[in-house]
Amino acid sequence: MPINPRRALIVFFSLRVTNMVFSEDLFNKSSPEYKALEQRFLELLVPYLQSNLSHFENLEILNFRNGSIVVNSRMKFGKPVARGVTTTVYLILEDFCNTAYQTMNLAIDKYSLDVESDQADPCKFQACNEYAECKVNKWSGEAECVCNAGYFSVDGLPCQSICELQTDFCLNDGKCDIIPGQGAICCRVGENWWYRGEHCEEYVSEPLVVGIAIASVAGFLFVASGVLFF
Ligand SMILES: *[C@@H]1O[C@H](CO)[C@@H](O)[C@H](O)[C@H]1NC(C)=O
Ligand SMILES: *[C@@H]1O[C@H](CO)[C@@H](O)[C@H](O)[C@H]1NC(C)=O
Ligand SMILES: *[C@@H]1O[C@H](CO)[C@@H](O)[C@H](O)[C@H]1NC(C)=O
Repeated sequence: MPINPRRALIVFFSLRVTNMVFSEDLFNKSSPEYKALEQRFLELLVPYLQSNLSHFENLEILNFRNGSIVVNSRMKFGKPVARGVTTTVYLILEDFCNTAYQTMNLAIDKYSLDVESDQADPCKFQACNEYAECKVNKWSGEAECVCNAGYFSVDGLPCQSICELQTDFCLNDGKCDIIPGQGAICCRVGENWWYRGEHCEEYVSEPLVVGIAIASVAGFLFVASGVLFF
């Protein structure tokens, strides 16, 4: 089963289905919705690729993304394949789009087809969100979304703040905050005041916040009137 990744050729591709609606469950790799759609695409695509591409070994659906539905996948070939395989794959997928529409009423935007071979950046097809960083495993060449400090991924869902995932993260009236690069902290909070900052060193109170807002509006009016009179 383990094949030397240096010898196998990997081709990534991405396609966009335009007549299906994305649902939150499609982020969740263990949800029945994800599994059903994954199964559906594998059943459709694998026989097609197998009969059209020699040395085709396997196809893996990497993820589904929003934008109607974007299917990101990775294909492996067991043996070195002739150059220009991306062009061949592209043509086969284009042909597949027509068949998919005629036989399964699955509309795939042909202009969305994106085929890249293993020199491609695998992170592009991983499509991590803004709270994650994509890391490539040097040995396997596989990419993975690694959540930033304070963010976590549950069931393969995009990374979310621990403050949102676990609303009782801070006990005894603590206020949960994410300090970039460090993680979650809990600072004391009162009715109209709270502490914030890396060491909860900064005192913030509502009158102060209102004061700042009034001051900035006043400042703006002052500047604006200056401009008008000028
Ligand atoms: C998918 O994207 C559309 C358009 O940007 C948005 O309205 C919708 O809420 C998104 N769906 C999910 C489940 O994120
Ligand atoms: C993902 O799906 C599984 C199976 O349906 C479910 O048990 C789990 O709660 C879901 N996770 C999230 C974060 O929605
Ligand atoms: C690929 O294979 C399918 C049958 O599995 C066939 O109908 C189709 O014409 C082939 N496409 C190309 C481009 O050879």
